[in-house]
Amino acid sequence: MCGIVGAVAQRNITPILIEGLKRLEYRGYDSCGVALHTDGRLQRSRSTSRVAELEKQMQEVGLQGFTGIAHTRWATHGAPASHNAHPHFSPSSDNARIALVHNGIIENHDELRAELIALGYVFQSQTDTEVIAHLVDHLYTGDLFETVQQAVKRLHGAYAIAVFSREEPHRVVAARQGSPLIVGLGKGENFVASDAMALAGTTDQIIYLEEGDVVDLQLGRAWIVDVNGKQVEREVKTVHAHTGAAELGPYRHYMQKEIFEQPRVVGDTLEGVTGIMPELFGDEAYKVFKEIDRVLILACGTSYYSGLTAKYWIESIAKVPVSVEIASEYRYRDSVPNPSTLVVTISQSGETADTIAALKHARSLGMENTLTICNVATSAMVRECKLAYITRAGVEVGVASTKAFTTQLSALFLLTLSLAQVNGRLTEEEEAAHLKDMRHLPSAISAVLALEPQIMAWAEDFARKENALFLGRGMHYPIALEGALKLKEISYIHAEAYPAGELKHGPLALVTEEMPVVTIAPNDALIEKLKSNMQEVRARGGQLYVFADVDSRITSGEGVHVIRMPEHYGCLSPILHVVSLQLLAYHTALARGTDVDKPRNLAKSVTVE
Ligand code: G6P
Repeated sequence: MCGIVGAVAQRNITPILIEGLKRLEYRGYDSCGVALHTDGRLQRSRSTSRVAELEKQMQEVGLQGFTGIAHTRWATHGAPASHNAHPHFSPSSDNARIALVHNGIIENHDELRAELIALGYVFQSQTDTEVIAHLVDHLYTGDLFETVQQAVKRLHGAYAIAVFSREEPHRVVAARQGSPLIVGLGKGENFVASDAMALAGTTDQIIYLEEGDVVDLQLGRAWIVDVNGKQVEREVKTVHAHTGAAELGPYRHYMQKEIFEQPRVVGDTLEGVTGIMPELFGDEAYKVFKEIDRVLILACGTSYYSGLTAKYWIESIAKVPVSVEIASEYRYRDSVPNPSTLVVTISQSGETADTIAALKHARSLGMENTLTICNVATSAMVRECKLAYITRAGVEVGVASTKAFTTQLSALFLLTLSLAQVNGRLTEEEEAAHLKDMRHLPSAISAVLALEPQIMAWAEDFARKENALFLGRGMHYPIALEGALKLKEISYIHAEAYPAGELKHGPLALVTEEMPVVTIAPNDALIEKLKSNMQEVRARGGQLYVFADVDSRITSGEGVHVIRMPEHYGCLSPILHVVSLQLLAYHTALARGTDVDKPRNLAKSVTVE
């Protein structure tokens, strides 16, 4: 989703801005642009193509400068077209005094637009962002820092902005409210960006701006005022951000690479866990776990499905009641808060706007015991929560989440065992058995990856379909949901998931010979029930594609295709079964020729609501 980079320096900053945008590409975007202060004028270059294309475009015209801002846009207001791409200029393209980039949504943009049109401003785009550019221009006093402080008072909604003026060549002003923004400090130069990774290799001295902060970046200073206009000192952190996406190596796509990295990253996430102890989640964890008597999980997308899986684990092993809520729903509904709740947010990025807002909402209702399972140690989510477990998936580039999911599940299983231990529900023998299973996970996942050639053969069939059903039962129902999500995200095939027992209450009406029905069939207590559900599909001519545990006694036959999962893995079985569904989605998308790593309309890091 939208990414911001800005710089004020005494050298040509084009390479820094372009490199920063490249590092933000993983968030997903549909257009990009750069504006620079050049020869006393504001100049910009914008593209609806990739950042590499923008870079070429800039090289062709020799666009360089010492002060500037850059942006990757994920369209919300206005189509992904070049005239909607940021930076936006004001008062007009030919006579630009103000250049501005924005991440977020301005809710009162209609009202402000009407006001600015009445003042004579002519709008070039359909964006809510252009409103801010004109507002800053309208209020401009010759002092950009002061002006932006005035302008943001008029904005309702979420924003991170970076802005500069033709009349102040060595200054960039930035502000945030509800969208992430960091400041990078250099020697005689300063930077602003959506995250520290964008500045990796440029500076590791990072300030995380707080809600309502406005920052004045000049060559030798970075002054911050808070929401009340009072000058404040914010802590400077040394952040060793990942230096972006690793090489693709032998893989065709990042998603494929990330699927195959799972044995390693699950191992990394569980590395050093030699025993179950609450302190894995933070120093205060024992006290918190003792205090709470229920768990509320808040997340979006794939992370939500890892939360749903954890509910099965936590309730059956730790005997603690769990509710799992989609963050964007929870934040707006009337719920019944209970202060003895452990609020768990799950997020790959740690920056998802709805999850952060849901967390804040939970806290505002008096639930102070918060924990996050997150893949980015420097993210807002980690900073906002009392306790944290950092998964070690590494940078995930593919928009469709894979390794982040299995590492989240690994961390959530650890949480389950820790809660069980604190509640006196984990014997030493059980602890030892679970630890042994966890240690074996990397090689168990590798055995599933070895099924790739068989899954590729199935993908040929799926690529010709427009619909698919996924069935699972118990803790594999969320895995069916995740399998269906993967398929729709990257192959654009309409896929739905159901708990198999629910089939006859509706989805059976969809089953014909044309309907592939993916069935997750672990050899657990529900296997015989599942076999009956499979009969219901076969009786209507539906084609079954079954991932069956080796000892489940399900065999191939007419209309029944079976791939044998290498071993039955008890509680941790969801972590294995999801890997086969990831491969099915990946190869189906490949056969359909879609843009696997950057599926249409989707973003990696959803920083607007
Ligand atoms: C986006 C991504 C998904 C991800 C979801 C939640 O929709 O495309 O892959 O599951 O956001 O993101 P988070 O970073 O909070 O896990």
